[in-house]
Amino acid sequence: MEHVSLYERIGGNDTLQILTDRFYDLVFNHDQISHLFKTDKETIKDKQRLFLTQFLGGPQAYSDVHGHPMMRARHLPHPIAEEDAVAWLECMAKAVESLPLTEELKEELFARFPKTAFFMVNRES
Ligand code: HEM
Repeated sequence: MEHVSLYERIGGNDTLQILTDRFYDLVFNHDQISHLFKTDKETIKDKQRLFLTQFLGGPQAYSDVHGHPMMRARHLPHPIAEEDAVAWLECMAKAVESLPLTEELKEELFARFPKTAFFMVNRES
Protein backbone atom coordinates (compact mmCIF):
# COMPACT_ATOMS: atom_id res chain seq x y z
CA MET A 1 0.00 0.00 0.00
CA GLU A 2 1.21 3.50 -0.75
CA HIS A 3 2.50 5.41 2.27
CA VAL A 4 0.01 7.96 3.59
CA SER A 5 1.52 10.50 5.99
CA LEU A 6 0.18 11.14 9.47
CA TYR A 7 -0.41 14.72 8.28
CA GLU A 8 -2.85 13.44 5.66
CA ARG A 9 -4.44 10.84 7.91
CA ILE A 10 -5.40 13.40 10.59
CA GLY A 11 -7.00 15.67 7.97
CA GLY A 12 -4.12 17.94 6.96
CA ASN A 13 -4.14 21.70 7.32
CA ASP A 14 -7.74 22.00 8.59
CA THR A 15 -6.99 19.74 11.55
CA LEU A 16 -3.69 21.48 12.31
CA GLN A 17 -5.52 24.81 12.34
CA ILE A 18 -7.88 23.52 15.04
CA LEU A 19 -5.05 21.84 16.95
CA THR A 20 -2.83 24.94 17.07
CA ASP A 21 -5.79 27.19 18.00
CA ARG A 22 -6.67 25.00 20.97
CA PHE A 23 -3.08 24.28 21.93
CA TYR A 24 -1.99 27.93 22.19
CA ASP A 25 -5.19 28.93 24.00
CA LEU A 26 -4.11 26.41 26.65
CA VAL A 27 -0.43 27.42 26.57
CA PHE A 28 -1.14 31.14 26.90
CA ASN A 29 -3.31 30.40 29.95
CA HIS A 30 -0.95 27.90 31.60
CA ASP A 31 0.53 29.06 34.94
CA GLN A 32 3.82 27.26 34.35
CA ILE A 33 4.70 28.31 30.79
CA SER A 34 2.58 31.26 29.59
CA HIS A 35 5.29 33.75 30.72
CA LEU A 36 7.74 32.30 28.17
CA PHE A 37 5.66 33.39 25.20
CA LYS A 38 6.36 36.98 24.15
CA THR A 39 5.28 36.89 20.49
CA ASP A 40 1.63 37.41 19.64
CA LYS A 41 -0.48 34.29 19.66
CA GLU A 42 -1.42 34.33 15.97
CA THR A 43 2.22 34.50 14.83
CA ILE A 44 3.32 31.57 16.96
CA LYS A 45 0.22 29.54 15.99
CA ASP A 46 1.04 30.09 12.37
CA LYS A 47 4.68 29.02 12.78
CA GLN A 48 3.65 25.92 14.72
CA ARG A 49 1.07 24.96 12.07
CA LEU A 50 3.72 25.23 9.35
CA PHE A 51 6.22 23.29 11.46
CA LEU A 52 3.78 20.50 12.34
CA THR A 53 2.85 20.19 8.66
CA GLN A 54 6.34 18.98 7.85
CA PHE A 55 6.96 17.29 11.23
CA LEU A 56 4.00 14.99 10.49
CA GLY A 57 5.12 14.17 6.97
CA GLY A 58 3.32 16.84 4.93
CA PRO A 59 4.90 19.47 2.66
CA GLN A 60 8.01 21.38 3.86
CA ALA A 61 5.84 24.37 4.80
CA TYR A 62 7.96 25.72 7.68
CA SER A 63 11.31 25.40 5.89
CA ASP A 64 9.93 27.13 2.78
CA VAL A 65 9.17 30.25 4.82
CA HIS A 66 11.56 30.19 7.80
CA GLY A 67 14.50 28.04 6.69
CA HIS A 68 15.93 24.98 8.45
CA PRO A 69 13.84 24.24 11.59
CA MET A 70 16.80 23.74 14.02
CA MET A 71 14.14 23.60 16.72
CA ARG A 72 16.46 23.08 19.67
CA ALA A 73 18.59 26.05 18.63
CA ARG A 74 15.51 28.22 18.14
CA HIS A 75 14.42 27.36 21.69
CA LEU A 76 17.76 28.19 23.32
CA PRO A 77 16.85 31.85 24.02
CA HIS A 78 13.90 30.50 26.04
CA PRO A 79 14.84 28.84 29.35
CA ILE A 80 13.00 25.51 29.31
CA ALA A 81 13.15 23.08 32.26
CA GLU A 82 11.76 19.55 32.45
CA GLU A 83 8.60 20.79 34.18
CA ASP A 84 8.04 23.21 31.28
CA ALA A 85 8.20 20.30 28.84
CA VAL A 86 5.67 18.45 31.01
CA ALA A 87 3.35 21.49 30.98
CA TRP A 88 3.75 21.87 27.19
CA LEU A 89 2.86 18.19 26.75
CA GLU A 90 -0.16 18.56 29.04
CA CYS A 91 -1.49 21.31 26.76
CA MET A 92 -0.77 19.22 23.68
CA ALA A 93 -2.48 16.17 25.19
CA LYS A 94 -5.65 18.21 25.84
CA ALA A 95 -5.61 19.81 22.41
CA VAL A 96 -5.11 16.43 20.68
CA GLU A 97 -7.81 14.82 22.83
CA SER A 98 -10.32 17.46 21.67
CA LEU A 99 -9.86 16.61 17.97
CA PRO A 100 -12.60 14.74 16.10
CA LEU A 101 -10.37 11.73 15.37
CA THR A 102 -10.39 8.06 16.37
CA GLU A 103 -8.70 7.21 19.69
CA GLU A 104 -6.08 5.27 17.76
CA LEU A 105 -5.17 8.23 15.59
CA LYS A 106 -5.12 10.62 18.56
CA GLU A 107 -2.71 8.27 20.35
CA GLU A 108 -0.49 8.02 17.30
CA LEU A 109 -0.47 11.81 16.95
CA PHE A 110 0.31 12.55 20.61
CA ALA A 111 3.08 9.93 20.60
CA ARG A 112 5.03 12.14 18.19
CA PHE A 113 5.62 14.84 20.84
CA PRO A 114 7.22 13.64 24.11
CA LYS A 115 10.66 12.89 22.69
CA THR A 116 10.87 16.26 20.91
CA ALA A 117 9.53 18.16 23.91
CA PHE A 118 12.17 16.72 26.29
CA PHE A 119 14.83 17.39 23.67
CA MET A 120 14.02 21.14 24.02
CA VAL A 121 14.95 21.16 27.73
CA ASN A 122 17.90 23.53 28.09
CA ARG A 123 18.09 24.40 31.81
CA GLU A 124 18.13 22.67 35.21
CA SER A 125 14.90 22.69 37.22
C1 HEM B 1 9.24 21.60 25.75
C2 HEM B 1 8.45 22.62 25.94
C3 HEM B 1 8.42 23.80 25.02
C4 HEM B 1 8.38 25.10 25.41
C5 HEM B 1 8.30 25.61 26.84
C6 HEM B 1 8.40 25.90 24.20
C7 HEM B 1 8.40 27.27 24.17
C8 HEM B 1 8.54 28.04 23.06
C9 HEM B 1 8.73 29.47 23.05
C10 HEM B 1 8.81 30.33 24.30
C11 HEM B 1 8.79 29.85 21.77
C12 HEM B 1 8.97 31.28 21.27
C13 HEM B 1 7.64 31.93 21.26
C14 HEM B 1 7.76 33.39 20.98
O1 HEM B 1 8.29 33.74 19.90
O2 HEM B 1 7.30 34.16 21.83
C15 HEM B 1 8.66 28.67 20.95
C16 HEM B 1 8.68 28.67 19.58
C17 HEM B 1 8.38 27.56 18.82
N1 HEM B 1 8.20 26.28 19.28
FE1 HEM B 1 8.32 25.69 21.17
N2 HEM B 1 8.41 25.09 23.11
C18 HEM B 1 8.43 23.79 23.56
C19 HEM B 1 8.44 22.67 22.78
C20 HEM B 1 8.22 22.65 21.43
C21 HEM B 1 8.02 21.47 20.63
C22 HEM B 1 8.02 20.04 21.19
C23 HEM B 1 7.82 21.89 19.36
C24 HEM B 1 7.52 21.10 18.13
C25 HEM B 1 6.96 19.91 18.13
C26 HEM B 1 7.89 23.33 19.35
C27 HEM B 1 7.72 24.14 18.25
C28 HEM B 1 7.92 25.48 18.21
C29 HEM B 1 7.89 26.28 17.01
C30 HEM B 1 7.61 25.78 15.61
C31 HEM B 1 8.21 27.57 17.39
C32 HEM B 1 8.37 28.79 16.47
C33 HEM B 1 9.83 28.87 16.11
C34 HEM B 1 10.14 30.10 15.26
O3 HEM B 1 10.42 31.15 15.82
O4 HEM B 1 10.05 29.98 14.02
N3 HEM B 1 8.13 23.76 20.62
N4 HEM B 1 8.50 27.59 21.75
